[in-house]
Amino acid sequence: MIAAEFRRRRKQLLRMMGPNSIAIIPAAAECVRNRDVHYPFRQDSDFFYLTGFPEPEAVAVLIPGRKHGEYVLFCRERDETRELWDGLRAGQSGAVEEYAADDSFPIGDLDDILPGLLENQTRVFYAMGCNSELDKRLADWVNRLRGSSRAGVSAPVEFLALDHFLHDMRLYKSRFEIKHMRTAAKISAQAHRRLMQACRPGMTEYGLEAEFVHECAMRGARFQAYTPIVGGGNNACILHYTENQAQLQAGDMVLIDAGCEYACYASDITRTFPVSGKFSLAQQALYELVLAAQEAAIRKVQPGNHWNEPHQEAVRVITKGLIRLGILKGTAAKLMRQEAYKTYYMHRTGHWLGMDVHDVGDYKVDGEWRLLEPGMVMTVEPGLYIPLRSKGVARRWWGIGIRIEDDVLVTKEGNEVLSADAPKQVAEIEALMAGGGA
Ligand code: GLY
Ligand code: MN
Ligand code: MN
Repeated sequence: MIAAEFRRRRKQLLRMMGPNSIAIIPAAAECVRNRDVHYPFRQDSDFFYLTGFPEPEAVAVLIPGRKHGEYVLFCRERDETRELWDGLRAGQSGAVEEYAADDSFPIGDLDDILPGLLENQTRVFYAMGCNSELDKRLADWVNRLRGSSRAGVSAPVEFLALDHFLHDMRLYKSRFEIKHMRTAAKISAQAHRRLMQACRPGMTEYGLEAEFVHECAMRGARFQAYTPIVGGGNNACILHYTENQAQLQAGDMVLIDAGCEYACYASDITRTFPVSGKFSLAQQALYELVLAAQEAAIRKVQPGNHWNEPHQEAVRVITKGLIRLGILKGTAAKLMRQEAYKTYYMHRTGHWLGMDVHDVGDYKVDGEWRLLEPGMVMTVEPGLYIPLRSKGVARRWWGIGIRIEDDVLVTKEGNEVLSADAPKQVAEIEALMAGGGA
């Protein structure tokens, strides 16, 4: 079942490539953190999308119509000693039997074998500029072939950006991918619920981070899709705050932007709530405004609407709300034209979500905003940020940063909020924090 999903993706790409072409896709490299220690390995998303192969030091090659098989995987050889130290390897037989490669060679043979596979192909599909070591080797192989032209060998003449084709495929999620994304979002939503239940004044930002990571890991998601942002009070006004060192104060709000990765798929959820479980009047007024903007933006996530409609809707609601609260002064039309909201809402309302948290896929096609279609997944995440000592803003709003972020799938009928299990209504949050409804 899983092998069939990866095969289907390779077939789709092979069909797009057409005859006399070859695609070369490298695995991610291991990355040193400090002496003898690596960062946890994360496979390259494009490579994993096509192969499902989890090891470093591998290169996948696709050749439409090749007699001895269209899918060749170069990977590490089995090695008893290395496997004793570092873990099992699939080896060449595993590549064929477990990962459905038609043919597999040791990665050390790449320089000997790949020029032969490039020979007499016209077009090379390759993501240039992402892996400088392989860029250089590919240039060397092509030059070697050019040098053999008198022997009747022809070198490729067209180089195409593989990422352009692949990223358009990745934008449309299959049923299999949606299932994983739903799981990722559900796990993260449960972890957000746990934080609401656990949060007390005097706890630390890293304490909440630890609770979040623990809950995700215990539910099967060992890795986070990005470093959690846990900002208490004024720290919530720093958009990508990841220090997470401060103590949480009664009377403040805390913003948590955190999402796990599950089976290589990201979730990305933000919730903001009062540290001591009860919103003050000012906090509630700003919170309800962000929530109204978010709900209005989600209603605009519909097939046939364009990418920017949810953002435009969020900006409209926020501008009118800021006027009502006395934070902006003037008419809505004029303030919208001036983009006055940008002082307090300076980021966009969302991004594509998938294997990468800021996922691939173009936002514009031929200069126009892209139309939303079933299978696309995006975040909807408006916010308001009013740092301490904001000039021209009444004191009661100072030190409040709020963002509410959900993961939304475009469906045939409209949309599905994958992260709906994380509470966001004021009454729901207060009830959960008071010990009601686990
Ligand atoms: N967590 C990053 C973002 O919300 O875009
Ligand atoms: Mn986020
Ligand atoms: Mn996001």
